[in-house]
Amino acid sequence: MQPSSQLVKRNEDQFESISELLVLNPPKDDVQDGLSPTKVVTVDYRVFQSLEAALPDSITFGLQPLDRGKFDAALVFVPKAKGELNILLSYACSGLKPGGKLFLVGAKKEGVASAAKQLTNWSDNVYKVDSAKHCQLWKAEVAETAKPFELAQFMSTFKFSVNGEPRELATIPGVFSYERLDIGTELLLAQISAHADKMLKGRVLDFGCGSGPIGIMAKILKPEIELEMVDINWLALECTKRSCELNQVTASIYPSDGWAAVEGRVNAVLSNPPFHEGVAYDYQTSERFIQQAKDKMNKYAVLMIVANGFLKYATVIEHHFGRCDVLAETTKFRVYKTYR
Ligand SMILES: C[S@@+](CC[C@H](N)C(=O)[O-])C[C@H]1O[C@@H](n2cnc3c(N)ncnc32)[C@H](O)[C@@H]1O
Repeated sequence: MQPSSQLVKRNEDQFESISELLVLNPPKDDVQDGLSPTKVVTVDYRVFQSLEAALPDSITFGLQPLDRGKFDAALVFVPKAKGELNILLSYACSGLKPGGKLFLVGAKKEGVASAAKQLTNWSDNVYKVDSAKHCQLWKAEVAETAKPFELAQFMSTFKFSVNGEPRELATIPGVFSYERLDIGTELLLAQISAHADKMLKGRVLDFGCGSGPIGIMAKILKPEIELEMVDINWLALECTKRSCELNQVTASIYPSDGWAAVEGRVNAVLSNPPFHEGVAYDYQTSERFIQQAKDKMNKYAVLMIVANGFLKYATVIEHHFGRCDVLAETTKFRVYKTYR
C-alpha cells in the first residue's frame, strides 16, 4: 500500500458514515482497503488495468460525466502532473452533494500542501485532518454542487506548422508540452518531414502521442498512411482526438501501456518517448519500449525517435537493431533512426 493510501486507512473513521464515495486518481494497485467507494476514476491506463479485476463494477478510465450531486464525499489523490489538479477537483465537485466533503491526500514531496491551497477555490472550510508517513490528508466542506464538468473548458490551442503551413493543436494542463510545441518534438518533426517519402508507409504508430503533433504531422504529409496514436493518459488521448479534429486527420487513437494494446506489426514508429515519471527518472519504459519495438515492426520498418542527449538510447538501439543513426543533434536533444 502506498503511504498516501496508508494515511487514508488510518483515518478511515472519516469515511464511515459516507454511503456514496468517489475516489479519484488512486495509486496503482491500491484497492483502498477499508473504504467502499461507489466509483473509482483514473486518467492513467496503468492504474485502470491494475485495479480493473478487483473493482470491475466501480472503476472507470477517464472523466466521464458524473451524476450531478450524487456523492457524499470525494477523495482525490494529488496528481503527479500539477496542472491536472484543478481538472480533477472540478470533476469531483461536479459530483458532490451540497455540503459534500472533499478530501485531498498526497505526499509532501509531491506538493500536497500547496495543492491543498486550491481547495479554498471550492470551500471556505478547509483544514488538515492528519499528517504522517510524509503525507497529508486535507478536508474541505463544499457548500454547493459545482457546475457540470466539461473537459472542453480546460482545453485551448497552440500553433504549429507543417511545411510552413499554420496549424493548431489542442492543449490541456497536465498533458506534455502544454501550450507550446516541445523543442525536442520540433527537432523530430523536421526529420520526419525530410524522410517522409521513404519511411511513411502503411501502418504508422505515434507512441506516447501527448497532444498529437507527431502523428498528425505524419498524416498531413502522407494522408494515405494508417495512423495509430497511443498514450497512457486519458487527458492526452482526449487532447489528441481534438487535435485530429482541428486538422481533419483520421487516426485510430487508443490507450496502451507501452506496446501492450498494439496488435500485429507496424511499418513505422515515431516517438518522443517518455523518460521520466513524476519526481524520479524512469528509464524502464523507454528501455522496454525499444526492446519490444522490434517484435512489433515489419521487416524494413523504421523507428525514429527524439530523446534527451544524456539518455543512452544509441547503445540500446544499436544493441537491439544492430545500427543507430543520429540524424540531428542539439546541445539537448538527439534524433535517432534505425530500421528492422
Ligand atoms: C515526451 S511526451 C511526448 C508527447 C508528444 N508525442 C509530443 O511530442 O509532444 C511522452 C508521452 O508518453 C506518454 N506515456 C508515458 N508512459 C507511457 C506508456 N507506458 N505507454 C504509452 N504512453 C506513455 C505520456 O503520457 C506522454 O504523453
